[in-house]
Amino acid sequence: MNQFFATCPRGLEALLVSELAEFGAKNIQPTDGGVAFSGDMPVCYQANLESRIATRILWQVGRGRYANEEDLYQAVFKLNWPQWFDVKRDFLVKVTGVKCPLKSLEFATLRIKDAICDRFRQAVGSRPYIDTKEPDVRVHAYLAAEDYQLYIDTSGNPLYQRGLRRASVEAPLRENLAAGIIRLSGWQPGTPLLDPMCGSGTFLLEAAMMALDMAPGSGRHFGFEKLNNFDAAAWEKLRLKVLGRAKPVSFQKIYGSDADLRAVRVSRENLKQAGLLDAVQLSHVDMTEVPAPAESGVLIANPPYGIRIGEDEALAALYPKMAEALKKRFAGWNTYFLTNDMRLPKLMRLSPSKRTPLFNGPLECRLFEIRMVAGSNRREKS
Ligand SMILES: C[S@@+](CC[C@H](N)C(=O)[O-])C[C@H]1O[C@@H](n2cnc3c(N)ncnc32)[C@H](O)[C@@H]1O
Repeated sequence: MNQFFATCPRGLEALLVSELAEFGAKNIQPTDGGVAFSGDMPVCYQANLESRIATRILWQVGRGRYANEEDLYQAVFKLNWPQWFDVKRDFLVKVTGVKCPLKSLEFATLRIKDAICDRFRQAVGSRPYIDTKEPDVRVHAYLAAEDYQLYIDTSGNPLYQRGLRRASVEAPLRENLAAGIIRLSGWQPGTPLLDPMCGSGTFLLEAAMMALDMAPGSGRHFGFEKLNNFDAAAWEKLRLKVLGRAKPVSFQKIYGSDADLRAVRVSRENLKQAGLLDAVQLSHVDMTEVPAPAESGVLIANPPYGIRIGEDEALAALYPKMAEALKKRFAGWNTYFLTNDMRLPKLMRLSPSKRTPLFNGPLECRLFEIRMVAGSNRREKS
């Protein structure tokens, strides 16, 4: 059995644990920002193809103690790199340090790269080239205070790149964070789902793929395809099985709208590119005027971030209007707002039943859950 580490947005580790268990992973151990597990290569293929939450699946090829760059060089040189990838593949080394005692992570990166190249030279008489943009193989080194861990990345490009979304708006969410939020909301396919601030349509795309049982990685390639141990037959068998599960595209009671016509167009284009346009209904309408498409359902929104000057005030003015719209038209709906603006519930004068900390990249956010039960969740005036 191999050891793996799946990375994910912080706050979604528990969801990733459930996914990995479903794929047959063993010894599942969550930590901050990821989950360690063991399994055979097909489990790793399945996690790459089917996980909606993971960012990367890293395959552990070495670990040990170190005190300086020379220790790292020796440890990396000892590993049998030509067994894992061909000298004709180009590669890239990425180093992350947490409480790492070394003065320069750049120098550590250089020494690890040198050790891999020297090992190849010794074994086959030549070395693989470096590619910093689209390498065939990515090697990740994690340097802690006394321990190092070395991984080969089996994903290649990060898994939130589904190979679907092309056009973008300002501040789009990463696909795996959007999928995690949909899961945290408890939404189930068949229940109406509305994103009234849909931007480039990330929630809509992820929900439509879930409803139709479309694997998030069905339209892309993965790093493991470039490794020597790639089992093409096992991969093809798995792909066909998973792709065969997908349902034909039909309307899934998923609704998206935005006040900005450009965003609606971008969402439309992205859904069309993904072949999912028929699963979703789009409209150009302000959130404060959006009609409820059903008596009950799940509303998920990622309001604008107040980053530029003046935007904070604009948002403070928008929240009470949003709350008014929810109270008037969305009684019976469960609503979820992802924002870094902790003032949102107070300014909406609505009490959240849950506040889940999540990180949108480095931005600390909350997912506020506000259940709209007619007349019951107005705040008491203090
Ligand atoms: C942070 S972006 C959402 C990004 C989206 N989740 C994505 O992944 O692309 C916020 C969106 O809210 C929209 N918006 C701002 N004020 C609005 C309003 N009053 N009604 C509806 N949409 C609004 C903006 O046009 C923008 O597309």
